[in-house]
Amino acid sequence: MSTLAASGAAAKPGSAKKTSFGKAPGGEDVDLYTLTNKNGAEVAISTYGGVVVSLKVPDRHRKLGDVVLGFDSVDGYVGDKSYFGAIIGRYGNRIWHAQFTLDGKTYTLAKNNGENTLHGGIKGFNKAVWTAREISAKDGQALELTYLSKDGEEGFPGNLHVRVVYTLTDANELKIEYFATTDKNTVVNLTNHSYFNLLGVGLGSGDILGHVLMIEADKFTPVDSGLIPTGELRGVTGTPFDFRNPTAIGKRVDSDDEQIKLGKGYDHNFVLRRKMSDRISLAARVTEEASGRVLEVWTTEPGVQLYTGNFLDGSAQGKGGVPYAKRMAFCLETQHFPDSPNHPKFPSTELKPGERYHTTTIYKFSTEK
Ligand code: GLA
Repeated sequence: MSTLAASGAAAKPGSAKKTSFGKAPGGEDVDLYTLTNKNGAEVAISTYGGVVVSLKVPDRHRKLGDVVLGFDSVDGYVGDKSYFGAIIGRYGNRIWHAQFTLDGKTYTLAKNNGENTLHGGIKGFNKAVWTAREISAKDGQALELTYLSKDGEEGFPGNLHVRVVYTLTDANELKIEYFATTDKNTVVNLTNHSYFNLLGVGLGSGDILGHVLMIEADKFTPVDSGLIPTGELRGVTGTPFDFRNPTAIGKRVDSDDEQIKLGKGYDHNFVLRRKMSDRISLAARVTEEASGRVLEVWTTEPGVQLYTGNFLDGSAQGKGGVPYAKRMAFCLETQHFPDSPNHPKFPSTELKPGERYHTTTIYKFSTEK
């Protein structure tokens, strides 16, 4: 184990730790970086998939608990099909029939979800080994991850240089900044796929049905049977998708609603009520009464995917051998809308040479009495 102290004025007490997390299938060494803030909160990030492996934040009694699902070593992530904690790219969520047209040219992508492409294809960014570097940050401890996605990878055009900066701030925020540049016109939609349970994720902790959720969205994007958006932006009023007033996730998750049935629960993109003048705005807030933990999600993105772990079936043995069952966690994946390359009316995901892709999402933890 080596200790990498942050250098210069930005050095913080409790410097980042780097440990071995195992080896990737290609034989590359995989490291686990643990960042700690002045309150003792802690995040561990793997260079395989840029995965958030654990995230320990206080409950109302200041007791730290790990609030994300994951595995004890890299092997769990190599076999994983649920994208636990990973960086998702090049394209978060689905692209219809694994193809899109850009500048009159049709690109064919890898199919990994029936006829569609999901989360970047067969070998998305969640299966890449990233290069890590500890960098100084004014507001906490930061880790920079970089990856070059080569022209044609999974069918996407352009050499895409990707940089993701994770910062654990002293305000108990996990800030994620995504940057990318390209040398050919392409599409990009990056996110993180952490599965949260604010009760803590040890043996015997419960599901997320009692967590109370608020989402700043008047509309959502209904889907077809392949979970591809139909193109409609549908009002949430009178539907199980109205989270404008805080509501328990479990209250309507099994309701007799066509969209809920298609998603087997919530697996939908919400259209965030964003003021374009604000660089970053509140997307969602989740509160959990027993622990007192509160999670706020802030983002520069126009959408957020609420996924309630509908495909988890207990077969994944997570940290400490805990089986991850249905509804054990929820995801709030900030993003541009699924299948945007095939929906010219959705906010554009195109990136051109000379432009810089830069989005920010903050997962902010606090407690209430
Ligand atoms: C996203 C998708 C879901 C599912 C999960 C991972 O949330 O929308 O359908 O693929 O990722 O299992």
